[in-house]
Amino acid sequence: MQRAMLGLAAAFLVGGTMAQADELRDLAKETFAPLPSTVPAVAGNPITPAKIDLGKALFFDPRISASGVFSCYSCHNLTTGGDDNMETSVGHGWQKGPRNSPTVLNSVLNEAQFWDGRAEDLKAQAKGPVQAGVEMANTPENVVVTLNSMPAYVDWFTVAFPEEQDPVSFDNMARAIEAFEATLITPAPFDAWLNGDDAALSDDAKAGLAVFMDKGCSSCHSGVNVGGHGYYPFGLVEKPGADVLPEGDKGRFAVTETVDDEYVFRASPLRNVAVTAPYFHSGKVWDLKVAVEIMAESQLGEALTDEEATQVVAFLDSLTGTVPEVTLPVLPPETATTPRPTA
Ligand code: HEM
Ligand code: HEM
Repeated sequence: MQRAMLGLAAAFLVGGTMAQADELRDLAKETFAPLPSTVPAVAGNPITPAKIDLGKALFFDPRISASGVFSCYSCHNLTTGGDDNMETSVGHGWQKGPRNSPTVLNSVLNEAQFWDGRAEDLKAQAKGPVQAGVEMANTPENVVVTLNSMPAYVDWFTVAFPEEQDPVSFDNMARAIEAFEATLITPAPFDAWLNGDDAALSDDAKAGLAVFMDKGCSSCHSGVNVGGHGYYPFGLVEKPGADVLPEGDKGRFAVTETVDDEYVFRASPLRNVAVTAPYFHSGKVWDLKVAVEIMAESQLGEALTDEEATQVVAFLDSLTGTVPEVTLPVLPPETATTPRPTA
């Protein structure tokens, strides 16, 4: 029933009357939601200005990596879409990691973090890269010694976690980073349109939205983050070639060790996707239109026409939002007791 109505919406859009635009919006509102206008609440971690400021400092601080070279910002650059625009990330000792870096923008709205959803929230997530051998290669103990060696950090943790006896901890580092990341919400033209501003989307973007819903993309990429929840085989209908889906990375299988989860990944959140090339966990595809065509074939068994693919890209463009203004933090200087960088 819904697919039939959507087909109509797509057809009507050629004429594009007001009533038809309203019909498309009503259908879209059943599947998507506009971004919240305030910083979303995070379970078990009340967000306060002091935590946000501390988290911002930590996000930018390369001294939480063993080498003193890599910060979260190295791979999640907020000036270029919240990712690193590389096929797969480069970390400790210039090692190339196995996966593409997803954006941190709006990541607080994902149901679970990482391509395979192995971290349940941003608190759990933030502890991963700090310890990952190919990313920051540090230990929780060394991070705590490092932070305790700088009096300003001790003050900031004390103010951010006023109830705690021992505020400078690895867990609180992760909580503060999560608080900062929760502020990285990027309202986009699509939100303005969902909220009633008809002029916020071009006709192409509206037609692309209709295709996106009509063909079934939105059965996996839905909700406020246009994805970021639900797990599906990459290659549900037709497995892409090993150039795009390398055999060695079995996705969620590594998390659940269930055969059914081989090559299963989280449906990617698509906000800001137009500025986060290259695409897929392998980072092998640089052109968004090609990524859209691969998805249509691999997940839906459909070949989109050139016009449909162009329209879907126009819709995805409308998900590029405004990044909040982030002023660079001035970080505390090292002291005589700050651990020295290791190679
Ligand atoms: C994934 C934040 C450091 C590369 C993620 C995600 C977040 C995040 C929120 C999940 C996003 C999503 O699932 O949509 C952080 C924070 C860091 C940090 C807070 C500092 C504590 C780094 C560094 C690198 C990096 C230094 C590169 C060397 C990646 C990669 C993934 C990822 C490759 C995907 C990994 C996978 O799915 O297995 N990061 N990141 N991150 N980040 Fe970072
Ligand atoms: C990833 C778009 C249909 C599940 C992606 C990406 C795009 C996209 C652009 C890459 C995101 C990135 O790299 O940041 C579309 C479009 C679709 C569609 C336009 C319709 C033509 C579907 C369907 C499913 C699905 C129906 C579920 C059955 C996934 C998954 C990923 C993904 C699991 C992650 C793949 C990976 O591991 O690299 N989608 N998608 N998609 N999509 Fe879709």
